[in-house]
Amino acid sequence: MNLQSKKVNIALVGATGLVGIEFLKLLEERDFPFNNLYLFSSQKSAGLKLKVKGKFYTVKEFKRDLFKNIDIAFFATSAEESKKYTSLIKEFKTISIDNSSAFRLKKDIPLVVPEINFENVKKTTKLIANPNCSTIQLVLVLNTLLQVEQIESINVSTYQAISGAGKDALNRFFEQTKGKNKEGYPIFFNNLIQHIGNFKGKWCEEENKIIDETRKILNKKNLKISATTIRVPVVNSHTEVVNLEFKNRINISKIKNALNKTPYLVLLDETDPVSVSGTNLVFISRLRKDKFRDNVIHFIVTADNLRIGAALNGIKIGERIIYEK
Ligand SMILES: NC(=O)c1ccc[n+]([C@@H]2O[C@H](COP(=O)([O-])OP(=O)(O)OC[C@H]3O[C@@H](n4cnc5c(N)ncnc54)[C@H](OP(=O)(O)O)[C@@H]3O)[C@@H](O)[C@H]2O)c1
Repeated sequence: MNLQSKKVNIALVGATGLVGIEFLKLLEERDFPFNNLYLFSSQKSAGLKLKVKGKFYTVKEFKRDLFKNIDIAFFATSAEESKKYTSLIKEFKTISIDNSSAFRLKKDIPLVVPEINFENVKKTTKLIANPNCSTIQLVLVLNTLLQVEQIESINVSTYQAISGAGKDALNRFFEQTKGKNKEGYPIFFNNLIQHIGNFKGKWCEEENKIIDETRKILNKKNLKISATTIRVPVVNSHTEVVNLEFKNRINISKIKNALNKTPYLVLLDETDPVSVSGTNLVFISRLRKDKFRDNVIHFIVTADNLRIGAALNGIKIGERIIYEK
């Protein structure tokens, strides 16, 4: 599809969710070239008016016949909802970019981080999967490190913000801070939640997503990677502690140079905390060599899960489709 010469018609399904709202901000901030914009939600939020680039758009309940004149659709809905709309993809010309986990591991569907593997989007591609939030910030760093030295194994522990669980969870959290909502796990003033999602054997859903998606995006199906995922009472931005073993002894200056040269990565020298929410960058801190092993490093990766981990990745895919395909 050659969209280069004209502005496109775009749709955002799930416009009223946490990721959806971030999509709207980014459409404006990056001056995304759209002609018409259609906003959809469930029946619950239909009728809401949301402002983008100075104009108000009324959110409509998503119906299949509303899909007709749309060139690019961003889905920021649950996996269950996204799956329901797959039949539309065959019927209409629309290119869909889906934020849910519904299609990420399907063989013929590209799982894309544009800085790493946009070449997997072909002229004929109609459905593209956006990876999991924790995966995106991790692979953006791993991709640079892989250009320095071969990786033997990766062990990542996550500290994931509440916004990663969507608007209902975030609202519940805010209510808990006022002592109001006793529903679900009392994460406020309590211990952390030691897993994210249901278990499949000894590993929870979020851990499997990081492991499987990282292997697919980096095209390394035998990569030795393990993950432990934890929910923390932080409103927004995920933090990950990474212990990484290279195949050979490494030169830490070479690693720092490579990270410093990567435009979307920020290597912090200081241990002072930085405010990450609302930024479009991935922050690396506490980079250091292991005390006993010459081929092992440790570092922390922090990024805005709603932006880097979701909406910004989708918007960048959309931009590249418009300008390159
Ligand atoms: N939050 C993150 O950090 C993050 C990161 C990466 C990926 N994701 C994925 O992105 C997706 C959205 O996450 P989120 O955190 O934004 O969730 P959310 O805050 O719960 O928002 C869900 C959105 O989906 C809409 N929706 C629900 N049922 C619908 C239907 N039948 N038809 C159309 N729209 C419907 C909701 O509309 P109403 O307002 O009407 O309820 C709302 O706009 C999920 O698949 C999630 O796993 C999230």
